[in-house]
Amino acid sequence: MKKKIILFDTTLRDGEQSLKSNLNNKKKIEIALALESMGIDIIEVGFPISSPADYQTSKQISQIIKNSKLCGLARCKEKDIDMVYQSLKNSNNFRIHIFLATSPIHIITKLKTTLNKVIEKISFMIKYARKYTDDIEFSCEDGSRTPINDLCLVVQTAINAGATTINIPDTVGYMFPQEYYNIISYLKKKIDNIDKCIISVHTHNDLGMAVGNAITAINAGARQIEGTINGIGERAGNCALEEVIMALYTRKNINFFTNINYNKIYNTSKIVSRICNIPLSIHKPIVGSNAFSHSSGIHQDGMIKNKKTYEILNPENIGLSKTEFNLTSKSGRAAVKFHMDLMGYKKNTYNINKLYNDFIKLADKKGQIFNYDLESLAFNNEIDNNTDYYSLKYFNVQSNSNISIATLKLTCGKLIKLEAATGLGPVDAIYKTIIRITNYNIKLIKYILIAKNHTEKSIGEVNIKIQYKKKIFNGIGLSKDIIKASVIAIINCLNNIWRSDQVQKNILKNQ
Ligand code: KIV
Ligand code: ZN
Repeated sequence: MKKKIILFDTTLRDGEQSLKSNLNNKKKIEIALALESMGIDIIEVGFPISSPADYQTSKQISQIIKNSKLCGLARCKEKDIDMVYQSLKNSNNFRIHIFLATSPIHIITKLKTTLNKVIEKISFMIKYARKYTDDIEFSCEDGSRTPINDLCLVVQTAINAGATTINIPDTVGYMFPQEYYNIISYLKKKIDNIDKCIISVHTHNDLGMAVGNAITAINAGARQIEGTINGIGERAGNCALEEVIMALYTRKNINFFTNINYNKIYNTSKIVSRICNIPLSIHKPIVGSNAFSHSSGIHQDGMIKNKKTYEILNPENIGLSKTEFNLTSKSGRAAVKFHMDLMGYKKNTYNINKLYNDFIKLADKKGQIFNYDLESLAFNNEIDNNTDYYSLKYFNVQSNSNISIATLKLTCGKLIKLEAATGLGPVDAIYKTIIRITNYNIKLIKYILIAKNHTEKSIGEVNIKIQYKKKIFNGIGLSKDIIKASVIAIINCLNNIWRSDQVQKNILKNQ
């Protein structure tokens, strides 16, 4: 029979701990709601003793979240435990999570005490917390570096005192999978009443093994995995829950399941990345922008013939629309035709050989090719794809703390147009001015500014995505002046939109 894995999310505690500034209660509530709708079993909402704000937010979340169990962190101190209770008592389902370090390095140099005193304290505090709830988790901080016999003593004590979940954190991300497996197996074998509790694992990613260690630990008998969305957390981060979830889902043969709503994964990841202001690496497993994008011509050809050749996950499962091909000069004819098919163009309406030759030439010049570029190459006989309809003649932006005013002069084909508009910031003002000039009904859906080079010689690169008539258009702008880079990116996008409109007109004319 398949065994359920309990998912314990600590994005709001271990994850938040690693951010440069604390999340306010509105942001924490938004994340908690996303975690709840994703089906997370236990949400660690914070460390209530750490600050009045953390306490208040935990309390507020306890009044909102109904379907996930809530948990608060406490050191082995009465006042910490009292605070967790006070903040979560309104929730019908809460857990107190107590921790104390158990490894020699922590006991001797950080706590300046002895293992015996640590054990006494653990027993006393777990019993103390039991007056508030039966659901007590105890974490042996730095458990993975605790000598195994000491760890057995601690775990036995915690169970005897009434802990119902015992967590063995790899606090510094030091373990190799086999070593972690051996620790969990040993505890399962040696401790008499180990079946009275759930063994939990909490892995950090210092050596890049957090997810692997967590998966190995459940093979050894652990039944709860702790982690964060996108793997955010102290230093190199925590175990990324979306990776664990999809690993268990994909490798069904390993016989574990979770109660996750898979189609909420992508959205939750986006929310956490935006709120915490931590962009994802394009290669981040599961949720990185490259995770379902195929570049090599051989791979794209394989995917068209059978998706399973190069994809072990289905992007639609995590709430993403579909697999994408990265159309570049490495792509083959099959990928070009595939994209034309996706857009609904029958093969007798264009010449695939000519299109492919033109595609390769443009891709060599431009890098990435989008669907609207393909349409333009296939159907736009009169328009030169290198000629821009819109170009910048002049711009001026003035800003103060309340308002920005942009003035733009653009060449629009044979005309020159001048307009001005106000906005909440410089980009907003430019954008509104552009709408006045072009009358396009457009929506800016993505704006990314990155510094190329980190010195005073740095160049700003602006990448934007604009939605127009249900299609997405891209624009890129580079300049030492980031406002100018924004103007250039928007104009670049406008030219793509204009070309696409011409294509549609041509198609209609020829029908
Ligand atoms: O990494 C760790 O040891 C922790 C504990 C508090 C569980 O975050
Ligand atoms: Zn941790």
